[in-house]
Amino acid sequence: MDEGKLRITDSRTACEYELPISDASVRAIELRQIRQDPGEFGMLSYDPGFTNTAACTSRIAYIDGTKGILRYRGYPIERLAENCTYTEVAYLLLNGELPTRHELEAWDMELMEHTRVHENVKKFMDGFLYDAHPMGVLVSTVAALSTFYPDAKQIQSRSNRYRQQLRLVAKMPTVAAYVYRKSQGYAYPDPDLGLSYTENFIHMLWSGTRRETNERDLKVFARALDTLFILHAEHEQNCSTSTMRQVASADADPFVGVAAAASALYGPLHGGANEAVLEMLDEIGSAAAIPEFMRQVKAGERRLMGFGHRVYKNYDPRARILQKIAGEVFEITGKNPKIDLATELERIALEDDYFVKRRLYPNVDFYSGIIYEAMGFPIEMFTVLFALGRVAGWLAHWEELMTDPEKRIARPRQIYAGPGEQEFLPIDERLGKARAEVT
Ligand code: CMC
Repeated sequence: MDEGKLRITDSRTACEYELPISDASVRAIELRQIRQDPGEFGMLSYDPGFTNTAACTSRIAYIDGTKGILRYRGYPIERLAENCTYTEVAYLLLNGELPTRHELEAWDMELMEHTRVHENVKKFMDGFLYDAHPMGVLVSTVAALSTFYPDAKQIQSRSNRYRQQLRLVAKMPTVAAYVYRKSQGYAYPDPDLGLSYTENFIHMLWSGTRRETNERDLKVFARALDTLFILHAEHEQNCSTSTMRQVASADADPFVGVAAAASALYGPLHGGANEAVLEMLDEIGSAAAIPEFMRQVKAGERRLMGFGHRVYKNYDPRARILQKIAGEVFEITGKNPKIDLATELERIALEDDYFVKRRLYPNVDFYSGIIYEAMGFPIEMFTVLFALGRVAGWLAHWEELMTDPEKRIARPRQIYAGPGEQEFLPIDERLGKARAEVT
């Protein structure tokens, strides 16, 4: 829709330009016509960290960061978290609409049929050391799955893409459970196809171990995991999802795309923050140590992990839902004492000018780790659980990109600030300046 024009005057040349406005944005390529002389490349927009650049048009998630609103395909996150299973939401994200009962039953059945992995995948996982970080094992194993499914390269076929989406959503819990069992030295059990998606995940994690879950706890934990995975499932153009789109823009298969996206998620500023929050709470130890910790945060020496967000400048709606789930899980597991420390940190931060001025609120990672820890997950597993939920969102963006008439290989520009042409010196005449500066 044409919403008018943006008029620009270039003070260097006194030339005037009119850029069409659509969806409250201008096309960056329109800036290229702005030049001082005809031989020049033309003007670029400069946006490190993509803080103000829309890279695509998407119909999957809507976020209003000021009001604290998150919707998947138009449905408020609160309604989905309260009423749906994770597979129902994965269906919504991947297919654009919530399933009917019949569609959901068929989808769940198809998913369960794809939960097994090739025996060689287990052998591949066996190659890692017992103390390998679970995210490193997950990323490598998902990338390795690409070699088990060479048909995944046929990305132009919708039915083929659907098969890979099924495989990835179905196999993530199996791989995640095996990552955990590998780290604990347990054998890899087969999936139980008679269970629901999250119940089966719990079965694969803990069956035959001392964490084996009774019937009642299985239901509560499965419901908690459904909700957690729904909250993790999608969050528009975050770092890992843009990575998925970036890799997919080169027509790479979705297994390596998901592995790349999971690698981005691994970072402590992104999904790795849930692990970092628990390490931070462990380090703070008690409420008495909060003032000194806050002093360091405000002095810029460290960050309050699980706080702040590029998009939310209000309470992250996912963090609110998590507080409720925490109560339900603690009824079974007993209260994780870290919740009191976290709540106190939150209370102090929300009254502190530093956080108020910068509009820093708890994000999804602030409470998720405390719940996962109460359920018995080691902290190194937290980001794996995040990845398990987020795979639906990554794949929804892959599908959207593959059918986008505007799809082109992602290839940003740069502003070159390096040296001009230099005289090449033979190796014996070089001064070794670069190394000397580093050491
Ligand atoms: N603790 C202390 N100060 C902070 C924090 C924090 N957690 N987050 C931002 N700030 C400050 C920052 O120092 C800066 O201050 P100043 O203007 O004085 O330089 C200001 O707030 C703006 O921060 P920014 O780094 O420019 O914001 P960003 O949008 O680039 O970064 C963020 C967003 C999430 C990386 C950042 O808030 C952060 O590092 N948070 C802690 C890590 C975390 O919890 N990450 C999980 C994000 S939610 C789940 C997900 O998407 O993965």
